[in-house]
Amino acid sequence: MDNFIFRNPTQIYFGKGMENKAGEAVSVYSKNILLHYGGGSIKKSGLYDRVIASLKSSGVEWTELAGVKPNPRLSLVREGIKICREKDIDFILAVGGGSVIDSAKAIAAGVPYEGDVWDFYEGKAQPEEVIGLGTVLTIPAAGSESSNGTVITKEEGQLKRPCGSELLYPDFSILNPELAMTLPPFQRACGVADMMAHLFERYFTNSYPVELTDRMIEAVLKTIIHNGPSVMMDGDTYDAWAEIMWSGTVAHNGSLDTGRLGDWGSHQMEHELSGIYDVAHGAGLAALFPHWMRYVMNQDIKRFVQLAVRVWNVDQNFKSDEETALAGIEALEQFWQSLGLATTLSGLDIPGDRLEEMAGKCAGETDNPQGQFVKLYKKDVLAILEMAL
Ligand code: NZQ
Ligand code: ZN
Repeated sequence: MDNFIFRNPTQIYFGKGMENKAGEAVSVYSKNILLHYGGGSIKKSGLYDRVIASLKSSGVEWTELAGVKPNPRLSLVREGIKICREKDIDFILAVGGGSVIDSAKAIAAGVPYEGDVWDFYEGKAQPEEVIGLGTVLTIPAAGSESSNGTVITKEEGQLKRPCGSELLYPDFSILNPELAMTLPPFQRACGVADMMAHLFERYFTNSYPVELTDRMIEAVLKTIIHNGPSVMMDGDTYDAWAEIMWSGTVAHNGSLDTGRLGDWGSHQMEHELSGIYDVAHGAGLAALFPHWMRYVMNQDIKRFVQLAVRVWNVDQNFKSDEETALAGIEALEQFWQSLGLATTLSGLDIPGDRLEEMAGKCAGETDNPQGQFVKLYKKDVLAILEMAL
């Protein structure tokens, strides 16, 4: 187990009706906030009205900034920074999914920063100060509600880039699994794929031995595999959503990184897909991850065998690790397909004409390899994208 320092400061309010505590939770920090949300699902579901009532009853004043798009854009972040500065706002309540939360994180870091907020996403600067942030989560997926990351797309250049900082953990996050019940099936599936991908990114490590976190990751994967199909169906239950929502948070809140170094190459490749083709993040991951797995499995075939046997219940072929490992990868593909997800780029209508460009943007022409389990240079990224076509 590697040395580690672990702290996750986000306070979680979990369960039915918890959004009615939004005002109370916010008023600990501020009475003058930015209410940030997306394209309107929160109005349709009635969540907006409940949050407003809760803010009012706690005497919190708000300014609204709606319109966050999936794969959130830099231009709206800039608008949010301007509003917060003009109105002396020192806290943001993000009501929505990973995109709304990531946009809010960017605004929170950008308000006190004198330079350009995009500096954080280009690695030119690190946030040193942020304004406060709370969230009401409406889709279990990205884990941003309790992560230190934010991912923003700069329209110019179609660049989707991440930024991580200890200061970006939200102060609190409200998780009511009932709120996910209005999600369309495609978004449900994308969320399940994303949280599974967060677990795989951590599982594939060269840190050794890491038995406890291996088994913790496997437990979360098994929980998602068990409950994922239930939340895809009519008649989805609170109990199944509760398992899925908490799994999504646990998958990405840092606890499963303890003592091990994760990979993250597949996420970096996916950012290039989302940057150019604006695909849903989880859908992009489903189209890439199995191919990455096949490409790198010989780095540590025993680890792939372990995953196949323990998580996918594959019968181990003691004469062929490769056969067992491949059966596990196939089980993953079948699972994602059973949720209605494509496991190839062509299944997402992504043509093959910009693979080279994506590989170059991802790994640099020569000097910016991605991934930790196996370092991926441009030629490797290109090979994986070609396999995924
Ligand atoms: O905009 P609205 O109208 O709210 O609709 C959204 C959006 O169209 C809709 N939706 C959300 N909750 C709903 C709902 N529709 C009906 N009922 C509900 N309860 O779903 C659509 C997708 O929302 P989005 O926020 O984009 O989804 P998700 O949570 O999957 O977030 C994806 C973003 O998070 C980033 C991704 O790259 C992507 O940009 N990630 C952030 C991470 C982090 N900060 O730690 C880690 C992840 O790896 C990921 O990269
Ligand atoms: Zn992700």
